[in-house]
Amino acid sequence: MITRNMHMCQAVLENHQLLPLFPRFNLKLGFGEMSVEEVCSTHQVNTDFFLEIANSYLDDDYVPGEGLSRFSLGTVVKYLYSTHSYYVMTALPQVEVKIHHLLDQSNFSDKEVNLVTGFFNDYKKEFLGHISKEEQNVLPYILELEEQSTRDHPDPAFIEKLHTYSISEFEKEHDRLETSLENLSRLIIKYLPPSEDFQLCIQVLNELAALVKDLVDHANMEDKVLIPRVLELERELLHKNDST
Ligand SMILES: [Fe+2]
Ligand SMILES: [Fe+2]
Repeated sequence: MITRNMHMCQAVLENHQLLPLFPRFNLKLGFGEMSVEEVCSTHQVNTDFFLEIANSYLDDDYVPGEGLSRFSLGTVVKYLYSTHSYYVMTALPQVEVKIHHLLDQSNFSDKEVNLVTGFFNDYKKEFLGHISKEEQNVLPYILELEEQSTRDHPDPAFIEKLHTYSISEFEKEHDRLETSLENLSRLIIKYLPPSEDFQLCIQVLNELAALVKDLVDHANMEDKVLIPRVLELERELLHKNDST
C-alpha cells in the first residue's frame, strides 16, 4: 500500500505496475528524495485522489465505490479523460504493434493471420467508438450537470433536457471493453499454432492481460462510481427545481 509520506522512488520500486498511471497524472520520473505528497503537490495533483487510484490499481480485489465518492465528479472525469488518452495513444497501439510483430515472425497461415488481424481491427473500431461516444456526449454532460447543480438558478434549457435524458440511457448500453480483448488472448492461446518466438508471444499475452485489468478498473469506475453519482445528482437537481 502506498502512503503520502513514502518516498515516491521507493513506492515505484516496490510497485512498478504503477508506472502506467504516471502519465495520466502528468507525473514524470526524476523524483529525487521527494515523498508521494511532495511529488503530487509539485505537479498540482490531488494527493488523496492519487493515493486512492494508485492503491486501487494495486489491489486486485478492489471495487471502486466509497473511497472515490469523496472527490468531485470533475476530478473523476478528468482522470477518465486522461485514461482514455493513455489507451488510445499508448496502450492499444503498443498491443497492435506487438501483435503484428508476432504475426510477421511466425509461420502462421494466411487464414490464421487474417483471423487475428480481423479480430483486432474489429475490436479497435469498437474500442474507439466507445471512447469517442463517452468523450463527445457522456463526460461533457456530466461536467455540465455538476456545474448546473452548483447554481442557484440552473439553466432552464438544461432542466428541460433533464426531463427527457438521463445517464441511465448510457448505463443500459455501456459495454465492457475488456470482454472482447480477453477473447483475443483466448484465440491466441487456444487456436494459433505455437509461435516460433515464444518470448514475443508471452509479451503479447502479458500486454493484453495488463490492458484487460486496466479496462476492468476503468469500467468499474464508470459503472460503480460515476453512473450512481450522476443519477443521484440528476434526481437532486430535478427535485430542487420542482420545489422552487
Ligand atoms: Fe471510459
Ligand atoms: Fe466505458
